[in-house]
Amino acid sequence: MSKVDVLLGLQWGDEGKGKIVDVLTPEYDVIARFQGGPNAGHTLEFNGIKHVLHIIPSGIFHESKINVIGNGVLIEPNIFQQEVNALMEKNCDATKNLYISKKAHLILPSHRMLDAANEHAKGNAKIGSTLKGIGPAYTDKIARSGLRVGDVLEADFRERYELLKCQHLQTAHTLKFDLDSFRIDNMTLDQYEEKWLASLETLKKFKLINSEYFINQCLEEGKKVLAEGAQGSMLDIDFGSYPFVTSSSTITAGVCSGLGVAPSKIGRVMGISKAYCTRVGAGPFPTELFDTTGERLCQLGHEFGATTGRARRCGWIDIPALRYACMLNGVTDIFVTKPDVMNDFDEIMMCTAYEIEGKCTNEIPFEYNTVEIKPQLTAYPGWKQDLTGITEYNKLPENLRNYIAALEEHTGVRVHAVSISPDRKDVLFK
Ligand code: GDP
Ligand code: IMO
Ligand code: MG
Repeated sequence: MSKVDVLLGLQWGDEGKGKIVDVLTPEYDVIARFQGGPNAGHTLEFNGIKHVLHIIPSGIFHESKINVIGNGVLIEPNIFQQEVNALMEKNCDATKNLYISKKAHLILPSHRMLDAANEHAKGNAKIGSTLKGIGPAYTDKIARSGLRVGDVLEADFRERYELLKCQHLQTAHTLKFDLDSFRIDNMTLDQYEEKWLASLETLKKFKLINSEYFINQCLEEGKKVLAEGAQGSMLDIDFGSYPFVTSSSTITAGVCSGLGVAPSKIGRVMGISKAYCTRVGAGPFPTELFDTTGERLCQLGHEFGATTGRARRCGWIDIPALRYACMLNGVTDIFVTKPDVMNDFDEIMMCTAYEIEGKCTNEIPFEYNTVEIKPQLTAYPGWKQDLTGITEYNKLPENLRNYIAALEEHTGVRVHAVSISPDRKDVLFK
């Protein structure tokens, strides 16, 4: 009997999860997504080509490995179809090694419309959603009115679809949403719906399964399963900076409900953290930099969203947030990504505590969104060296290794590997 290893983001998303999953896939038999949906953008790079995945797990390029979209994930069939086609153009036929849970919920075009309507209604308090329909689709799931992948095969699917759409249109009306000027990919809701309905045929070509039985059977046979998280712990619906969060459980606990595995079957928990911090969308970000250093991190790190293209907010690494994420997830190993972005920096700051109303704390306060938080910064000397071509952890510059050692000391968790470029080959294991 084996256990499910978990890989997830420890910050506000975009930590480099996709890249690390791709690197680790050879060690596993199955790669499974357990939450989120097309709000995710996971970037992989190899042989000089960049690939961005949204719903499909990041193990897909390894033909002999099974990839699973678990019950906790949301699928938008048209986005899914585009992703499948994009892979096909790169000679990767996902129908061969991708299985989909029948219990995964569907994102309807009208969920996307409601996402826009909700954000519009919030005005200045808007969350900065990716507008992929995540919040409204999870809302319907919890309200027990959602539609699932398996429903697509039922005779009354269209009827149920129309009923749900009708409810959504009523809500939009109540919110005084201007439906006439609403567009998805430059299409009206009706035009988009036509594409969306047609894309259900692509979904039907895949192996639609009860993934909880499949995953547990794999574990029983001693196969190795890796659960791939989306978003990050600070965007978790319960523990993130609510309401500036996504609508799913992004932490290890989400693996149990999002794949149907018992807590006792969780193995290693690998947490991914950038060597600094980014956040896209609204919400608190205590270490955010508004100066030229922040601008440098954004430019040198190419910090633009893989899903929306928006510029990511940048700042120093945040230890209280990292420790919180390690605690919530039971992280056993940390992977640090993107230190190479700071190769030219004279000094690198680490926020080791927060000062709130004159008091020092290591905890994320309930009032995260409203109190003024002064990050307590400790300076570390930069390594001032290009990392290109370094292939062993011990050959990394001493100042970088010292920075990593400080991270380990502050979090109490060992750093297992450091990634030094977007490419698959550049991960140095300790
Ligand atoms: P994910 O959502 O966690 O999978 O991360 P994203 O793909 O949204 O964002 C991470 C970005 O950083 C992508 O553009 C990656 O290609 C890139 N990246 C990943 N690891 C490294 C690294 O070690 N160094 C650099 N410079 N870029 C990296
Ligand atoms: P990956 O998997 C970074 C953010 C959005 C917004 C908030 C809610 O690539 O790390 P939603 O669309 O879920 O309603 O948006 O969460 N967000 C992400 N930020 N990376 C992601 O995914 C994200 N998915 C959602 O920007 O602030
Ligand atoms: Mg991303």
